[in-house]
Amino acid sequence: MRIEVLLLPSQKPRLDSYDLVTVIDTLRATTVIVKAVEVGAMGIYPVKSITEAMRLKEIVPNALLAGERKAFKIKGFDLGNSPLEFTKENISGKNVILTTTNGTKVASIYQNYGKVVAMAISNVETVAHYSENFQNLLLVCAGSHGEVSLEDSYTAGKFISFFDMVSLNDGGIIAREISRLDPMKMLKTSHHGRYLSSVGMEEDLEASLIERKAIPVLKTDMINLKFFGGER
Ligand code: MLT
Repeated sequence: MRIEVLLLPSQKPRLDSYDLVTVIDTLRATTVIVKAVEVGAMGIYPVKSITEAMRLKEIVPNALLAGERKAFKIKGFDLGNSPLEFTKENISGKNVILTTTNGTKVASIYQNYGKVVAMAISNVETVAHYSENFQNLLLVCAGSHGEVSLEDSYTAGKFISFFDMVSLNDGGIIAREISRLDPMKMLKTSHHGRYLSSVGMEEDLEASLIERKAIPVLKTDMINLKFFGGER
């Protein structure tokens, strides 16, 4: 098995195609997407801008608007970007149109490189088992405002730690080293973890560590790109 880690989405992948691409935005976009799929959302449409989200709301049936800017719920939206808000009661059977600062911008960049799934600490073990027989994997960390983020690198490293015989790029070796850290300490030390705590969202760090079995897969439907949980 060969695993290539991009610590930032702006890095260039070495290959043209992979068996699987995982996109990672641990705090908090992919944690939210994993939870949304697990509690029964029909689909999660990751979009880049508020304008695009509002345009999609007009055409996606049974849709909620969700997302954040500077971690806070966007004015007029139904939900923010906290995993605590993505409960079964709020979103089961619904479509969610999600726009976040970094995370929701990444998936579309890699849609042509292979099957794309959303990964966070919560589902890293499930995605690792799912990937056992794949040969070439690309793990893409969203980072934060163009900078490498500790929590995304940690998630990539945790994924790698499930495999013994693996060829890694240097990004993968760095990530694997970081995955030895204590997860809660790591989240609390990370730049974005400290920011979330400073604005009263420390509970979201704990929520990011709850294990989940969902594998959100990116698909194009008649309307747009969306993550859905219907495939293993
Ligand atoms: C992002 O996409 O940058 C994050 O998910 C931000 C957050 O909601 O904490």
